Amino acid sequence: LRRLQQVAVTPLNMAGDPTRGLKILRESGQVQFELWDSDDVPVPRKELLQKVKGVDGLVCVLTEKIDTELLDAAGPNLKVLSTMSVGFDHLSLEELKKRGIRVGYTPDVLTDSVAELTVALLLTTSRRLIEATHEAKTGGWGTWRTLWLCGHELAGSTVGILGLGRIGVAIAERLAPFKVKKFIYADVAPRPELASVINAEYVSFDELAKQSDFLSVCCALTPETKEICNKDLFSKMKNTSIFINTSRGGVVNQEDLYEALSTGQIAGAGLDVTVPEPLPTSHPLFTLKNCVILPHIASASYATRNNMSALAANNLLLGLRGEPMIKELKL
Ligand code: DGY
Repeated sequence: LRRLQQVAVTPLNMAGDPTRGLKILRESGQVQFELWDSDDVPVPRKELLQKVKGVDGLVCVLTEKIDTELLDAAGPNLKVLSTMSVGFDHLSLEELKKRGIRVGYTPDVLTDSVAELTVALLLTTSRRLIEATHEAKTGGWGTWRTLWLCGHELAGSTVGILGLGRIGVAIAERLAPFKVKKFIYADVAPRPELASVINAEYVSFDELAKQSDFLSVCCALTPETKEICNKDLFSKMKNTSIFINTSRGGVVNQEDLYEALSTGQIAGAGLDVTVPEPLPTSHPLFTLKNCVILPHIASASYATRNNMSALAANNLLLGLRGEPMIKELKL
């Protein structure tokens, strides 16, 4: 009799309800697992280090740092790591590779949800919706005034995408019907196949900054992209430009962004991601009217989170059986 494989699983419940992923694991008959059964707080590090001892597999989310300490705590049984995220900057890829641990992740299934939220955040920021509802609720709504709460519109604009992948294309496809004039993108190299879908022009990083009326950050966080959006970039942007980030907070130098927003160097910013997360409520960015901050909810639709959990569960089970995963990172 083969023993059931031991697996540790970090939150896969949603508001108390099991996700599809959790049901898949439960019904698989393949694994016996220890679940961190709270959607409210991440598993405390100390507890995770205990729980992973001797496991064959681990399902994690982006709040868990999978580093040498954790892999040492898990020990040599650990063969498969499955993260319920498309981003993998929380994983020590070199360490995982060195130990021959296979890694599953969840691209594609969240593209629509992230693109949809990005558009919502862009419009909220550019049309100043948070300020507007605040004014309406708190008595600031006086007579109709010509320039009161004016923002910037997408019609006739140039939209820039930093890092063109599936999500960047999905965002552009949703923005095109707003009568955007031109899409441009910057990346380490041209991506003609993806670019042709949205008729986007490849430009240098400098040109992206200079031309974009709306700049949407869609690149992964890597050592190369860390704080790539800094003083240098903001100083080249137009005073009327809107900066949107739904990728990772680490690609932005937040002090420089604060400076750009508070001096009027750029018109506004919409952020779904920050450093750290949660961003302390005392953070200076929260004092700015032209900065809209969301608590990392781009993939937060019931359908998408369920799909992510199912993909994470299936990646894990396939990996543990030694079969190809549905979505596996090439290490
Ligand atoms: C991811 O998957 O990396 C997103 O940031 C959260 O869904």
